[in-house]
Amino acid sequence: MGSNWRWSWWLLVLGLGVMCTTIVSAGASKGEEPLVTRIGFGSCANQSAPQPIWNAIIDFDPQLFIWLGDNIYGDVRRPFKFFGEERTIGPWKNVPRFVPSSQQEMESRYHKAKANPGYSRLRHTAKVIGTWDDHDYGLNDAGKEFTEKVNNQRLLLNFLDEPHDSPRRKQEGVYASYTFGPTNRQIKVILLDTRYHRDPLRSDGSFLGSSQWTWLEKELNGPKTAITIIGSSVQVISNLSATTGPLFYLESWGRFPKERNRLFKLILDSKREGIFFISGDVHFGEISRYDCATGYPLYDVTSSGLTQAVEKAVRRPLNLIVRFVAWLTPTTMRVMNQNCRFRSCTYGLPNFGAIEIDWSATPVTLKLEVRDTNGYPVTGVKFPLLELQSLSMNPVTSIKLGRHKSHCSLEVNLPWIIRYRLAILFYFSMTVLLLAVIGFVYAVVSACRRCFRKCKFD
Ligand SMILES: *[C@@H]1O[C@H](CO)[C@@H](O)[C@H](O)[C@H]1NC(C)=O
Ligand SMILES: *[C@@H]1O[C@H](CO)[C@@H](O)[C@H](O)[C@H]1NC(C)=O
Repeated sequence: MGSNWRWSWWLLVLGLGVMCTTIVSAGASKGEEPLVTRIGFGSCANQSAPQPIWNAIIDFDPQLFIWLGDNIYGDVRRPFKFFGEERTIGPWKNVPRFVPSSQQEMESRYHKAKANPGYSRLRHTAKVIGTWDDHDYGLNDAGKEFTEKVNNQRLLLNFLDEPHDSPRRKQEGVYASYTFGPTNRQIKVILLDTRYHRDPLRSDGSFLGSSQWTWLEKELNGPKTAITIIGSSVQVISNLSATTGPLFYLESWGRFPKERNRLFKLILDSKREGIFFISGDVHFGEISRYDCATGYPLYDVTSSGLTQAVEKAVRRPLNLIVRFVAWLTPTTMRVMNQNCRFRSCTYGLPNFGAIEIDWSATPVTLKLEVRDTNGYPVTGVKFPLLELQSLSMNPVTSIKLGRHKSHCSLEVNLPWIIRYRLAILFYFSMTVLLLAVIGFVYAVVSACRRCFRKCKFD
């Protein structure tokens, strides 16, 4: 009896063992990729500055990290100078403020960036992919006219450890796409090149160039994935220039309205669900959302930068003015909520982007956040993935004339008194200041005159 039991016991164990091995090897032979639940991203990292933010990114423990450009600062920036031999601003400006550096210098800057201890640690625990923006492309605000692009493409791809035989090294531009995760839980990442083929700013010409557009159309119409992340170095949804002009303008898809509409139409026509954007460039963090472009809300999570940030660019009490200006600048697309670190729901200190997907929740949920150097969220949204799946929404929403609706009306359609309030306040303050100076000078001069006359009579 006893030995019989023992035999059946051994047989059972053996049977289970064989079964498990078969299942595991079947899974492996099918090439099932591991589930992706955490993705980090970031932009604008000065290779010469301390980069403590990597600690927070490593703590977040992303399986994938995406560079969204300005991965190094490759060009040379001259200081603002009104006077002197090299004048970089004013109508008498005689030299450009930004100039490209030599190839050797670019290489050494990439080397420095790659050798950063924090980033090196991340490279061991996460897969790293990325695209570029102007400063690693080689020149501030540059587009297709910039001739160093061919060389610099090679340098970026070396930095990203792109295999030597990769077709990405042979194409014109660094755009690329990747698919991660197991069947039915796949994440597609599409990285755009917003530099290589871009026509000059203010031309309203092409943004991606025809070869990249053809490629993008094919990618969007390709096999469906649960989630599709489109990485663009510059913002897609927010058109800040509409409300900061004529004081200053920023680069964005909004500056090329025709191309932006083409992008939205491509998404709509592809009927692809689960798309959202990630972006960088602007030196602050922001989440924006556009409900009236495709059949579902289009989110754009902007994280910028890993070291470069608007509030860091000025001395201490002045950062409060920057924060106030951010709050004052009107927006129709920004996602506002109670949990933002600052009232404006933008974040002008170093930050990174954190994407979390809870595949085990029913329904599957998506958490998109911008986080600070300590890893704490400064703005974020959490919603069921289903929210990006209903193509039932009517993309053409009629809004009464003179009204505006958040996440739907364009910034350019805001009433002028709201749209230009930043400029109005600026010119008003300047006028008051000027009048005060004139008043003061007048008072001093007349006081002197009175005194002079009195002295003479005495
Ligand atoms: C990068 O950091 C270095 C060292 O702090 C600084 O000298 C340089 O101006 C910075 N570059 C940019 C583009 O901010
Ligand atoms: C964005 O703002 C700029 C500057 O005001 C404007 O020319 C452009 O048409 C706007 N784009 C969109 C899509 O509203």
